[in-house]
Amino acid sequence: MGLRKVGVVGLGTMGAGIAEVLARGGIETVGVEIDDAALERGRGNIESSTGRAVKRGKLSEEGQAEILGRIAFSTDFAALSDCDLVIEAVPERIDLKEKVFAELDKVCGPDAVLATNTSSLSVTEIAAATTRPASIVGVHFFNPAPVMKLVEVIGTEGSRPEFVAAVTALVRDLGKTPVTIGDRAGFVANRLLFGYLGPAAQLLESGAASKEDIDASMTAIGLPMGPLTLMDLIGLDTCLEVLEAVHRDSGETRHEPAALLRSLVAEGALGRKTGRGFYTYEKVGSGAVADPVEGKASAEISDRLYGPYLQDAAQMVKSGYCDAASADAAMTLGCGFPVGPITELRNRGEWTD
Ligand code: CAA
Repeated sequence: MGLRKVGVVGLGTMGAGIAEVLARGGIETVGVEIDDAALERGRGNIESSTGRAVKRGKLSEEGQAEILGRIAFSTDFAALSDCDLVIEAVPERIDLKEKVFAELDKVCGPDAVLATNTSSLSVTEIAAATTRPASIVGVHFFNPAPVMKLVEVIGTEGSRPEFVAAVTALVRDLGKTPVTIGDRAGFVANRLLFGYLGPAAQLLESGAASKEDIDASMTAIGLPMGPLTLMDLIGLDTCLEVLEAVHRDSGETRHEPAALLRSLVAEGALGRKTGRGFYTYEKVGSGAVADPVEGKASAEISDRLYGPYLQDAAQMVKSGYCDAASADAAMTLGCGFPVGPITELRNRGEWTD
């Protein structure tokens, strides 16, 4: 089945990025937000992201106009009535998701694929809260969606296999790399990534290292961003939700959200999108840059954060949840790590296939 017209509900950081990816891929796209102000913010997100590509000479102005022209913006769910696929990207609250899927149930045709971009809720649980559980598929993009190549596609036990296959094919057509996996807290990438980000926040809270030193220690071993800078990019509210979900499932101390993270979220310091998180930003949104403060790299810090993450990946593959190639793809294509964890272990002589 071809998915020719695709809707996105929620045009926050992720939804706007997903709509951009679809429109760039030539897909007729419909973006829906809750009210005019949110819709304008969503449109602004997409305009500034594509505008940045124009400024860098990666996209012509006509190209940008074409991309924006492929997206219809609306505050009315009825605009989604003839979509073959709708991707929900609203905040991570089951009551909100339920409301969205109840609306979709009213307006979408019986063969529409209904997908959720959830990163912390169970796709099975979301499906169970709808009247069409077999139509629900998880499709998990990474931030920034236009840049990161990985998309996790999650089928539940009840998902229609042809729906999972159609979403996987679309992801591939969009130039992304799909990894098709089962429903488990954190899926592959967040499960591994947050086993490293959570302890980084705990380390900062302990006072044993500064945020600059923690970040410098990880970029020194080739990661594209330090963990605290990355958490600010993802959004500290999202980080807290993912950690809580993974911690509920694993019960492990290192997945326990640091009190510091909780208090920043409670204060509304959510990272780049609000101008303050672990760092302070002069500008809000995707172009935000923190004051450059040079940290001092320490092998002790990088070993402490990187070692357990590698062991986690080894365990995940041994448990049969995913294969070595998927674990590597998750971290290289989803999070920009220069080398996947299993390849790293193999290089160290600590992994045999
Ligand atoms: N939107 C669109 N494009 C963007 C962008 C954005 N917000 N940020 C960067 N880009 C593009 C730039 O335009 C540039 O493109 P070109 O090479 O075509 O010019 C490219 O990305 C590189 O950007 P920069 O040179 O400005 O910056 P960089 O080299 O430092 O890369 C980065 C930025 C791609 C974000 C890189 O630092 C990186 O890979 N970081 C890790 C990100 C990561 O781990 N994401 C996953 C988070 S987990 C998640 O999202 C899942 C969840 O559920 C929480």
